[in-house]
Amino acid sequence: MKVLLIGSGGREHALAWGLAQSPKLSKLYIAPGNAGTAQLGENVSISAENLSELAQFAKREQIDLTVVGPEAPIVAGIRDLFEREDLKIIAPTQKASFLEGSKVQAKAFMHKHSIPTARHASFDNFEQALTFARTMAPPIVIKADGLAAGKGVAIAQTHTEAEQILRDFMIAKKFGAASQRVVVEEFLVGKEFSLFVASDGVSWKLLGTAQDYKRLRDGDQGPNTGGMGSISPVPWLTEKMLDETVQKIVAPTFAALRKENLSYEGILYFGLIWTDNGPSVLEYNVRFGDPETQVLVPRFDFDLLELYLALAERRLEKFEANLKPVSAVCVVLASGGYPEHYEKGFVIEGLEALTPSSLYFPSPSEGRGERGVRVRGAGGEGHILIFHAGTALKDGQMVTSGGRVLNIIGLGTSVSEARERAYAALKQISFPKMHYRTDIAA
Ligand code: AMP
Ligand code: GLY
Repeated sequence: MKVLLIGSGGREHALAWGLAQSPKLSKLYIAPGNAGTAQLGENVSISAENLSELAQFAKREQIDLTVVGPEAPIVAGIRDLFEREDLKIIAPTQKASFLEGSKVQAKAFMHKHSIPTARHASFDNFEQALTFARTMAPPIVIKADGLAAGKGVAIAQTHTEAEQILRDFMIAKKFGAASQRVVVEEFLVGKEFSLFVASDGVSWKLLGTAQDYKRLRDGDQGPNTGGMGSISPVPWLTEKMLDETVQKIVAPTFAALRKENLSYEGILYFGLIWTDNGPSVLEYNVRFGDPETQVLVPRFDFDLLELYLALAERRLEKFEANLKPVSAVCVVLASGGYPEHYEKGFVIEGLEALTPSSLYFPSPSEGRGERGVRVRGAGGEGHILIFHAGTALKDGQMVTSGGRVLNIIGLGTSVSEARERAYAALKQISFPKMHYRTDIAA
C-alpha cells in the first residue's frame, strides 16, 4: 500500500515509525515531513495546509490511504476535498471538526449534551466579555474561539490581566479572526490527562492514555508550550477513574455526535482534568496529540496501518487495539528561547552514537504476552526512540530547524525505568542553547 502522511512534527515521525513497521506498507510519503521522517519514507515538499496540491499529489501517485497528523488541514476540510476526489483518507469531516476548530461551538455542544466541562460563556463583543469576566473570581480562563497553534488559551490571575487579554484577543485580534470570539470560563483545579480514541463512525475504541507537560520549565513553571514532554500510560489514573471517564465523557460524546447526525471518523483526543467532582473536558482535539503520540505509538501492540484500514473500512469494532504493558516517557529537546524567539541552524551532535543499535525497533507482535519489551542490542540498550520534530539536513549535517527539535523516548517496565533511559540517552545529545525539562515523569 502507498500511504501519504501529512505533517512535519514529532507526532508525524512517530506515526511514520509506526506505519513503517507494517508489512502492508509498500511506500510511505510524508508531506512535508522532517529529517527524521526522511529516514522512513520519502518527504514531499508540500505544506500540510496546501490541500489542493496534496490532493493532486495523492491522485498522481495513486496513494491508497492518506493519514493526517495536524488539525489545520482537518479544520480546513481536507477530508471533504479528498472524498470528492475519490481519495481514501482518515480524518473527520470539516463539519465534525468544530470540536477543535471552534471552542465556542465545542462548549455549546458539551453544554447541550451535559458533558462535564468548566462553566463558561461565549462572546463576540469585547465590552460584554469584559463585564462578564469582572463578575468572575480569578483565575479566569480566556480562550480564542478558533485555531491559534496551541497558544489560544490564556489564564488571567487578576481582572486587570483579564482585560488586557480580552483586548489583545478581541480588539488587537492577536490571532486574527480566530480570537474575535472568545470563551470565558471558570478555572478548574485538578490533574490533567488525555485519552485517545479511534472512531470509524459506527463504533469507537480507546487507544490509550497520556499526559503532557505543557509548561516550559521544571515544576510546571514558565509559559505554555506545545509540550515539553509526555508519559503513557498516565501513572495515577486507575482503572476505576478511566471507567468513570469513559462513562461520563467518552461514551456521551460519541452518543451526542450521533444525535447531531455527525459521523466521526478518525482520532478524537480528549483533553481532560480530574477534579474533586471527577473528570471534566478541557478541550477536544480532532487528531492525535503532540508529544503524546510519541509515547503512545511505541506502546501499540498492533499494526498502525491495520488500525487505519479498520477505520477506513468501518470494521473497528473487531479490531484488537491492545497496548504493550510498558511505560513510555518522552522528553522534548527544545531550542533556547522557545516558545518565543529562538535561532535555528545549530548542528546537533551525538545522534550517531544512538543509532541504530541502541534503538528500539520491534515487530508488531513483539511483546505480546511478555513482561516488558524485547529489543535488539544488549546491556540495557534498545529501549530508546528518537523522534525528530524540528530538524533539517544541511550540507550532510543534522541541524535544528524549529522550536521543538528532538523527542527522546525511553521505554521500560516501570515509569522510573523509562524515565532513566530517556534521560541517559539525551545526555549524549547536544546543540547550542538546548533546553529541556529535567522533571518529566519524576
Ligand atoms: P486547552 O487548549 O483548552 O487544553 O487549554 C490549554 C491548557 O490550558 C490546558 O491544558 C490547561 O492546562 C489549561 N486550561 C484550559 N482550560 C482550563 C480550565 N477551565 N481550568 C484550568 N486550566 C485550563
Ligand atoms: N499536546 C497537546 C496537543 O497536541 O494539542
